[in-house]
Amino acid sequence: MRRLLPLPEPGSPARPGPGDPGLAQDDLDAAYAVPALLPGTAHVRANFVASADGAAEVSGRSGALGGPADRWVFRTLRWLADVVVVGAGTARTEDYGPAIVPPERREARVAAGLAPVPPIAVISGSMELDPTARLFDAEVRPLLLTRASAPADRVAALREVADVVVCGDERVELKAALAELVARGLPRVLTEGGPLLHAQLAGAGLLDELCLTVAPLLGGPGHLGIVAGLPWPSARAMELAHLLEEDGTLFLRYRLTREQ
Ligand SMILES: NC(=O)c1ccc[n+]([C@@H]2O[C@H](COP(=O)([O-])OP(=O)(O)OC[C@H]3O[C@@H](n4cnc5c(N)ncnc54)[C@H](OP(=O)(O)O)[C@@H]3O)[C@@H](O)[C@H]2O)c1
Repeated sequence: MRRLLPLPEPGSPARPGPGDPGLAQDDLDAAYAVPALLPGTAHVRANFVASADGAAEVSGRSGALGGPADRWVFRTLRWLADVVVVGAGTARTEDYGPAIVPPERREARVAAGLAPVPPIAVISGSMELDPTARLFDAEVRPLLLTRASAPADRVAALREVADVVVCGDERVELKAALAELVARGLPRVLTEGGPLLHAQLAGAGLLDELCLTVAPLLGGPGHLGIVAGLPWPSARAMELAHLLEEDGTLFLRYRLTREQ
């Protein structure tokens, strides 16, 4: 993988040349480092992969879009996060499992003040989640962020396998959900979507960053993109923080202005 932007200074040792081995894990960690946080605040980063024409799924799953380099960035972003947040649609469709962190990364996380393994937090109003799903076969108990009006029987069954947190009456209020994560010492939030959750976070000004992998593929018409749901009153501006590349796949890191 190589960095295309920002360009290193001319003559800088970081400027790539012929035979350059490319970025190493340390370089990727530095490229995606989470900024220092003020106490009581969260940093919310979204990570998506899409085809060049904006498809975020092919045959209902995202797996066909990402190659080895995308999986490397995906893992790295997890290793830099306190918690991985997903919508229940993605957890169900992608059959989410716990985050996997190798021993050396556990040590690095602990040295940096993080827990060895980030929990997965699922946002669900229906609580239609199978308590025997592999998500719940985890070394760190998952969090389920739900609403007060969720079906009581499903909530009771899921309390056996996860920590259930109520964040709103009729729907999960995302600002309240983020405050709950901060209160639990999980301020570095990585959300892996899906499109419905992402659109709400970005639309409400609750997103600090979008990490977008653009795969050199055309998905064709009729696919979900990286946002879904209700339209916004206006488009949101972003600032490009970096652009990396491997084998024609682009890795864009954008910053957004947080509004809340
Ligand atoms: N390309 C990528 O990087 C990428 C990433 C993620 C997902 N995807 C794709 O996206 C698709 C899934 O999309 P999706 O839009 O269904 O997924 P989603 O955003 O992950 O899930 C939507 C679900 O999350 C829950 N939810 C979200 N916001 C809520 C709120 N404010 N209050 C209460 N519940 C809330 C609801 O769950 P309940 O129904 O349980 O109430 C809702 O049905 C899959 O095809 C997946 O492969 C692609």
